[in-house]
Amino acid sequence: MLCSLLPKFGGNLDRMDIFSKFKDFKVARQLEEAGVYPYFKVIQNAEGGTVYIDGKRKVMAGSNNYLGLTHHPKVRSAAKDAIEKYGTGCSGSRFLNGTIDLHIELEKRLAHFMGKEAALVYSTGFQTNLGTISCLTDENDLIFSDEENHASIIEGTRLAEGETIVFKHNDMKDLEAKLKEHQDVKGKIVITDGVYSMTGDIAPLDQIVKISKKYNARIMLDDAHGIGVLGKNGKGTADHFNVTNDIDIIMGTFSKSFASLGGFIVATEEVIHYIKHKSRAFIFSAAMPPASLATVLSVLDILEESDEHVQRLWKITHKMQKGFQSMGYDTSPSKTPIIPINIGDEARTFFFAKAIYDAGVFTNPVVAPGVPPGQGIIRTSYMASHTDQELNLILDTFHTIGKMCEMIK
Ligand SMILES: Cc1ncc(COP(=O)(O)O)c(C=O)c1O
Repeated sequence: MLCSLLPKFGGNLDRMDIFSKFKDFKVARQLEEAGVYPYFKVIQNAEGGTVYIDGKRKVMAGSNNYLGLTHHPKVRSAAKDAIEKYGTGCSGSRFLNGTIDLHIELEKRLAHFMGKEAALVYSTGFQTNLGTISCLTDENDLIFSDEENHASIIEGTRLAEGETIVFKHNDMKDLEAKLKEHQDVKGKIVITDGVYSMTGDIAPLDQIVKISKKYNARIMLDDAHGIGVLGKNGKGTADHFNVTNDIDIIMGTFSKSFASLGGFIVATEEVIHYIKHKSRAFIFSAAMPPASLATVLSVLDILEESDEHVQRLWKITHKMQKGFQSMGYDTSPSKTPIIPINIGDEARTFFFAKAIYDAGVFTNPVVAPGVPPGQGIIRTSYMASHTDQELNLILDTFHTIGKMCEMIK
């Protein structure tokens, strides 16, 4: 019996241990040995656009805290008050003992803010996609998913019944061709990000709506990076294109502009009613805790009250896009506060990011599978709370180090 298995494993007994892959996993250690490993950096202190790592000051150009509200006095105090009133956790699933009045208040407020009938709040954004998408389809249904959709969408489609058809990134001809090819299938849904998290480009949602309607397909939008950034008062990509009524399900997270942790969907009451009784990632997981809920409610107050933070974010975005482009960096196809610096070669990406980091700027080098192989980027992103001084320091650093590393002329 054992002998008959050997050829399958290349005759190597070692390979039969499922743990052998741990020993074989070398790439992260190689980066560490080369002194350019950029991940799991430990932040000791953070305030506004500045963080401290290993006791050294770094300007943060790699956060998703787009509105810069994690340190807003009102938001901090709302979180503290919630802990005083409700304690630190909910100790159970929403379905059973974990629902507190703040969940209900937040769901009402989100539905209203996003212009839909009802909302459902999950404990993370990843769970929101996983738990929602996995219960949307039956075996005869089809999901049409953009090739650059977020990992949590991909995991959701893997769990969902029915086939997933991947269309080329933001390629409306390809989407239409694929929908047309399957026009006889009744149950169809198109799933797209609103703003792409690595490259900062925006999905052509108006065209997606037009094409999906033509082929009777429903639409789900993941607006993790669009809410707080695009649309009136940061209502997101659907509002930006004026197509909120045409999108069946809008998903968002609280870990970015909402300065907290968690995720949500908004849709009709009927959709929400079904998902909250079917979604395993919702039912079999503990509820979002009080301080996180109060944080989001307080950010909603700020967003509804004024557009000031969104406006500042766009002023910063235009300054940085112009600044990078005038130095000769390629930042395409970004249209948002996520500004990638396109490098290409992966080793070069890591070495350049390390030089930028050593000069005092925190960014995120991204290589495959975060981006297609050989298209390494340094992902920079901006916050409404960045000061002009911090922004100038980022640009000056990219100028000096870019010249030194021959990235720019
Ligand atoms: C597009 C997109 N969707 C979903 C998620 C998951 O959200 P969270 O990190 O809040 O769990 C992310 C987070 O990186 C994201 O970028």
